[in-house]
Amino acid sequence: MAYKIAIIVGSLREGSINRRVARTICGLRGDNLDCSMVEIGDLPLYNQDLDANPPEQWTRFRKQVGEADGVLFCSPEYNRGIPGVLKNAIDVGSRPYGQSVFDKKPAAIVTASPGSIGGFGANHQIRQAAVFLNMPIMQQPEAYLGHVSDDSFGEDGCIKEGPLKDLISGLAQSFHDWVHMIHESRRLLAEDSAHAALQAKAKEHA
Ligand SMILES: Cc1cc2nc3c(=O)[nH]c(=O)nc-3n(C[C@H](O)[C@H](O)[C@H](O)COP(=O)(O)O)c2cc1C
Repeated sequence: MAYKIAIIVGSLREGSINRRVARTICGLRGDNLDCSMVEIGDLPLYNQDLDANPPEQWTRFRKQVGEADGVLFCSPEYNRGIPGVLKNAIDVGSRPYGQSVFDKKPAAIVTASPGSIGGFGANHQIRQAAVFLNMPIMQQPEAYLGHVSDDSFGEDGCIKEGPLKDLISGLAQSFHDWVHMIHESRRLLAEDSAHAALQAKAKEHA
């Protein structure tokens, strides 16, 4: 069974390298990760006053993320931090209080940059928000992809063969395994408690 993955790209740029990295990940694991990009460019800025009557774009975004089994963030770094458009999307999905669509969703964070430190600052700011949002974040491999440029991609828009593709390929496999482990352990725990409840009931009536 393929897990449904919501991919949130922190760049609105048409030729975004992060979007192309995300596309490569989707292509590599099409057999067991059913990926869709969730657009964030049209989301009105988060304003708590609107929660009583939310804009339809917020509702669409919350529904798309809510239905996913996991979330993959692929983002650039802006001024050593998280791009505003991505922070806004995270804020929109996290509210109303107690109804966050991110809660308990396994996730991974990838940042790509032409620079040499691969968006490390943004990566960890996303991670910081995800900790608060109670998302089990894949720890390894970390993905600070440095020196990524237009030259890194082929005409199909995906990463060319080489060390970067090998790294992304390993990451995609690890992300699948991570999402599977989280969901499978929850399923087993639920089975265990259902079984324990049945046993307790049987004991009561014995
Ligand atoms: C407003 C702005 C701030 C940026 N700040 C950083 C930065 O702090 N670190 C970095 O590595 N690159 C920075 N860059 C360069 C981006 O990494 C580069 O433009 C990258 O291609 C953006 O990602 P995208 O191709 O997915 O849109 C910045 C770019 C912009 C437009």
